[in-house]
Amino acid sequence: MSELFDAELNAADVPLDTDAFRRAFAGADAIVPTVGDRIPGDILGASGGRTRIIANYGVGTNHIDLDAARVAGIVVTNTPDVLTEDTADLAITLLLMAARRAGEGERELRAGRWSGWRPTHLLGTAMHGKTLGIIGMGRIGRAVARRAVAGFGMRVLYHSRSPLSSDEERVLGVVRAASLDALLARSDFVTLHCPATPETRHLIDARRLAQMQRSSFLINTARGDVVDTQALTAALTRGTIAGAGLDVYEDEPTIGAELLALENAVLLPHLGSATRESRVAMGERVVANLVEFFAGREPRDRII
Ligand code: DGY
Repeated sequence: MSELFDAELNAADVPLDTDAFRRAFAGADAIVPTVGDRIPGDILGASGGRTRIIANYGVGTNHIDLDAARVAGIVVTNTPDVLTEDTADLAITLLLMAARRAGEGERELRAGRWSGWRPTHLLGTAMHGKTLGIIGMGRIGRAVARRAVAGFGMRVLYHSRSPLSSDEERVLGVVRAASLDALLARSDFVTLHCPATPETRHLIDARRLAQMQRSSFLINTARGDVVDTQALTAALTRGTIAGAGLDVYEDEPTIGAELLALENAVLLPHLGSATRESRVAMGERVVANLVEFFAGREPRDRII
């Protein structure tokens, strides 16, 4: 970006606060935020702004007030595709870690509490042959389905706003659930891959968690807002579900002490796309979107 544009870099990696964002909005033709940079609608709607494009570094855009951007005529782009496979890998990582109690085992060993092999030591749950429920069948949901079916011989049920065609279902080897509640009741593992929107906020709440089996696990690599954290913490504490694997949080990077203390929760710090390969490719995609926009062409990843 520095070669192509007069770029001011956030080298400290500190999220932009409202004042910093207001200054950027007043002085920059383009802003390149990440998921940690909250972009409020009142600033986008204010007069005197110079910004014409927000080229987000990441696929999720729930940190940007998209309605305000639309009204203000500001273009918004994101970085789909390039992080799909790595994010799907991380969902599978969390499935395995939660099912096989990998976090608990590592904590025990590092604390010097491991007394050796025992037949009933840290018994987990097998993943192969089980039923996986996928909520949201976009690119990442489909990539998780491929891994689950081909790699673990799992049965895959899905629930999605836009159902797949019967051909797509057949090729992937997945079955559409009759309803979200039916998916929750029948799945041994439930993994979330829907965007965070006002409609999906707390989609997994106390009532929906109660539909899950006591032996089931919830995995979230989508966005924290999709799950009611308080309800999830209560379900994990009472053992009404077996465990959870989380990469995203409602108020990240702040995590409640109660959740942090739970042995049956695997907690990762938003690592879904965190490979060198994905992060470089995401950057290339941002640059390509900016170049297209300032050349007067339609940026490939325009969402607004
Ligand atoms: C995304 O791309 O939305 C990730 O969650 C952050 O990079």
